[in-house]
Amino acid sequence: MRGVDPAWLPDEVFRPIGTRRTVIRGSGPLVDTVYGELAEACARYGGGVSREPGPHDLLLELSGSGDSEEFTYELGAGGTTVTASGARGLLYGFFHVVRLGEEAFLGEPVRETHRPAVGLRMLDHWDNVAVHPVMGQVERGYAGGSLFWEDGRARGDLERVAAYGRLLASCGINAVAVNNVNVHAVEARLLTDRIGEVAELAGVFRAYGIRTHLSVTFAAPIVLGGLATADPLDPEVRAWWAAATARVYEAIPDFGGYVVKADSEGQPGPFAYGRSHADGANMLAAALEPYGGTVHWRAFVYDHHQDWRDRTTDRARAAYDHFTPLDGEFAANAVLQVKHGPMDFQVREPVSPLIGAMPGTRLAVELQATQEYTGQQRHVCWLGPMWSEVLRFEPEEGSSVGELARGGLVAVSNVGDDPFWTGHPLAQANLYTFARLAWRPDADVGGILDEWIGLTFGSEAAAGVRAVMAGSWRTYEKYTAPLGVGFMVQPGHHYGPSVDGYEYSPWGTYHFADRDGVGVDRSVASGTGYAGQYGKRWAEVYETVASCPDELLLFFHHVPYGHVLKSGKTVIQHIYDTHFEGVEEVEQAQREWASSAGVVDPVRHARVAGLFEEQLRSAREWRDQINSYFFRKSGVADERGRTIY
Ligand code: GCU
Repeated sequence: MRGVDPAWLPDEVFRPIGTRRTVIRGSGPLVDTVYGELAEACARYGGGVSREPGPHDLLLELSGSGDSEEFTYELGAGGTTVTASGARGLLYGFFHVVRLGEEAFLGEPVRETHRPAVGLRMLDHWDNVAVHPVMGQVERGYAGGSLFWEDGRARGDLERVAAYGRLLASCGINAVAVNNVNVHAVEARLLTDRIGEVAELAGVFRAYGIRTHLSVTFAAPIVLGGLATADPLDPEVRAWWAAATARVYEAIPDFGGYVVKADSEGQPGPFAYGRSHADGANMLAAALEPYGGTVHWRAFVYDHHQDWRDRTTDRARAAYDHFTPLDGEFAANAVLQVKHGPMDFQVREPVSPLIGAMPGTRLAVELQATQEYTGQQRHVCWLGPMWSEVLRFEPEEGSSVGELARGGLVAVSNVGDDPFWTGHPLAQANLYTFARLAWRPDADVGGILDEWIGLTFGSEAAAGVRAVMAGSWRTYEKYTAPLGVGFMVQPGHHYGPSVDGYEYSPWGTYHFADRDGVGVDRSVASGTGYAGQYGKRWAEVYETVASCPDELLLFFHHVPYGHVLKSGKTVIQHIYDTHFEGVEEVEQAQREWASSAGVVDPVRHARVAGLFEEQLRSAREWRDQINSYFFRKSGVADERGRTIY
């Protein structure tokens, strides 16, 4: 598409296919999509594509009509073959060959079967249809306006959505929720009289094997249906949802289902009627069940009107406390969608103790690709290593988070109508990495980065781009809130430092720094008891200062500034050192990027170079505010005598 960055699908990656002869067998919309890709590549590079048997270098064969996403890839004497029994398998097999490039034709003979480890691989868009006075068009969006909505309605031109669907299909995403989980008045109507607009989007996504989902308000029967109640056990309410859902499926036969944020940050929910969240979720599950739809019920439920003086309430405990008593009560097509950490997408959090604690419930794990707390797509922060750590974490020995996410892996999207899709061009890597990890949560994440770099930049720029990105999450962690304590951001928009910004607020996000020490005591012995929400193994690890890993120490414990970490440094010296190092690492990355000038296309290079100026300014601000704050609190000087204000 003209004027839009091709991201990881520049023309060049289709050259190996485009110069060869391909035979494609099978029929249906997804086969047509693949055929269209081949035809375009061959027109560009001189190869050929045929739907009839004949001589070929590549054979793509759809052998059935099922829903399977699996494909078999073979490189042998007769050329390269992809076979699949489901059309999406063929689509994914095709893009597998694209990713391999020449390797798919010239490599060693091989026969492999690929299938996704996670069935639902989804992006949730926090897009508003109408511009919200505070949150704008995209809540926590850092990439311009919405791809879907503009001026209060669906965009007339959906070419960009098609280009997006193509990018997503190429890395295996199969579901998209098209509106914000905070459902305002205009957006609520997407469920009813404005479903046609959602159907237009669904029509575009369908050609890429992507099902469309919708965020709905729990109060819909009241605000849209004129009923007096939204009580999930009320027969009229249930009938209203059943009828509304029937109409949704008339418009979108392959509709994926609903996403619901209930009783959370002001959204309505079942608590108002004295009902449980299982009652709420199951009512929607019942409405969706006849059509094979799923309700994604979010577990992000906590008290956001907390009194900071109250040391007994702990926001980190909330999801576990609310939901574990309901294990086993959720319908088969209800999925409980849990944020990966107990708080809110901080740069470092422990894994949510809810994951692994509800064996009788299908859980989806939610990650945040949009960089709300991780630099807002003005800072380079490749989140792959964090996500990989989360997905490999084993709440109980032998079963990882990736395996426990039976209900899917979901990320909050980082995309908008920005020409580079993600504002910061290097933030495209987060989208790509999420998708590839969702396909295979135990994949080597460094390999995913290399794959993304290779596709996006080609080989010449690879080493330089890798040097800028590989350690960028840890760098970001170094110059922001230390040792897992979280927040310390400016309230509201969440960009830039404000150490006490949330310290006396109702949001439950405190660090409790005083002249002697810092951190939140979440032990069972003397704190909020949160550490006890884990299974025995991790509960023991997190319970004591001695066994708690350094990087989470201030999340779990309040310790004196002179406490010596496992690294051998005191907490206060660790704070100083990491903040100086973090800024130095940004300076180093900036130099590295500057030296890639000749091998990265100039427009992309200039955009990133400009953003580095802001990242460096912001990192210095973080360093100086954090260091000065803790120096003033503690009175302890930096061992190395560096400047602290
Ligand atoms: C964060 C974010 C909100 C969002 C919420 C959610 O708190 O700041 O904008 O609505 O998460 O996940 O629902």
